[in-house]
Amino acid sequence: MGTQTRGRPFLQIPGPTNIPDRVLRAMDRAVIDHRGPEFAALVRGLLPDVRRVFGAADAHPAIFPSSGTGAWEASLVNTLAPGDRVLAFDHGHFATLFAAAARNLGLQVDLLPSDWRRPIPAEDVERALRDGRHRAVLVVHNETSTGVRNDVAAVRAAIDAAGSDALLIVDTVSSLGSMDFRFDEWRVDVALTGSQKGLMLPPGLAILCIGSRALAAGERGGSPRSFFDWRPIIRENEAGFFPYTPATLVLFGLREALDMLFEEGLDQVFARHRRLADVVRAAVDAWGLEIYCADATARSNSLTGVLVPEDVDSGAVLQRARARGLALGVGLGKVKGKLFRIGHLGSLNELETLAIVAGVELALAESGVRVRLGSGSEAAEEALLGRERVAT
Ligand SMILES: Cc1ncc(COP(=O)(O)O)c(C=O)c1O
Repeated sequence: MGTQTRGRPFLQIPGPTNIPDRVLRAMDRAVIDHRGPEFAALVRGLLPDVRRVFGAADAHPAIFPSSGTGAWEASLVNTLAPGDRVLAFDHGHFATLFAAAARNLGLQVDLLPSDWRRPIPAEDVERALRDGRHRAVLVVHNETSTGVRNDVAAVRAAIDAAGSDALLIVDTVSSLGSMDFRFDEWRVDVALTGSQKGLMLPPGLAILCIGSRALAAGERGGSPRSFFDWRPIIRENEAGFFPYTPATLVLFGLREALDMLFEEGLDQVFARHRRLADVVRAAVDAWGLEIYCADATARSNSLTGVLVPEDVDSGAVLQRARARGLALGVGLGKVKGKLFRIGHLGSLNELETLAIVAGVELALAESGVRVRLGSGSEAAEEALLGRERVAT
């Protein structure tokens, strides 16, 4: 058994995700002049569609050549000044890294301890904000290290209930384009993402959606900034350009990816993710393993974190899967070795999901986890057929 060299690779880490052939073909072309009319038309056409994916009617999109981490920085330096107090949550690997980015930029971060296995309780948010000192709340919509989805609407309601005027800044890196997100309805001030997950693109873009309050905060102040200043980006993007060299080919890919999402229909895209996530979760249940997210109503539809028995290192499962060409996510931060993550987001269909389940099942069996071969596949197929499993 060696690394598989034929057929499609199964890149089932929770991002970067598999890139559809259509998107690959759209990027397989000559680089064009990014100061010419063809490029300007491309960028101007992207902006309303980017807004639509975020669920925003007239917020300002800003596209940077960067990654999700760059999007964090852009959201912070444009709205907040060193010394400003922000509320963040120790709620997963990425939530704590977002908080660390804020601290590195000179912000005063109140990091609220949270149960990594459940969504952030709205009461905690409200209580923490009551003293009125916070300028922003940093929330990760879908925590990629754990597979826990936060209720952004409930966080918004908690900010309002506390009488706070803090900006709501939401990381949608592993939810946008896979799970329902409603910028306007939830009155989000800044939402941010990267290109490499639900948008089915290679890494390379940091995409923000900026509401009027955040925009005004950036006009009034913010931190010293240069590359991540969103003012020249918004201005130039609206004219179809960039203040510096853009990721030209990834933008062609973005055009194609957005077309694909709209052709399928965003609601159908979200429903497909929900269905495939249910299939994976049915398999995990059948293996007798625990899904890391302990709140069944808050389970991510883009990835599933799976706890392994105490005498098994989750890294061993990953190694076995990798030998068959199946890449799974490692346990990050404090859950390293204890869980592995199955990414089921982006360009994915039912039969691919069954193959992933079978691949995980083999890897588990080979790593010493006591699973009955076929049990996960059977449960997954039953979930696809819409049948309840009959306990045996
Ligand atoms: C929720 C979340 N936020 C931020 C990031 C950081 O993004 P990047 O690695 O593109 O810088 C990631 C990366 O996986 C993520 O999952």
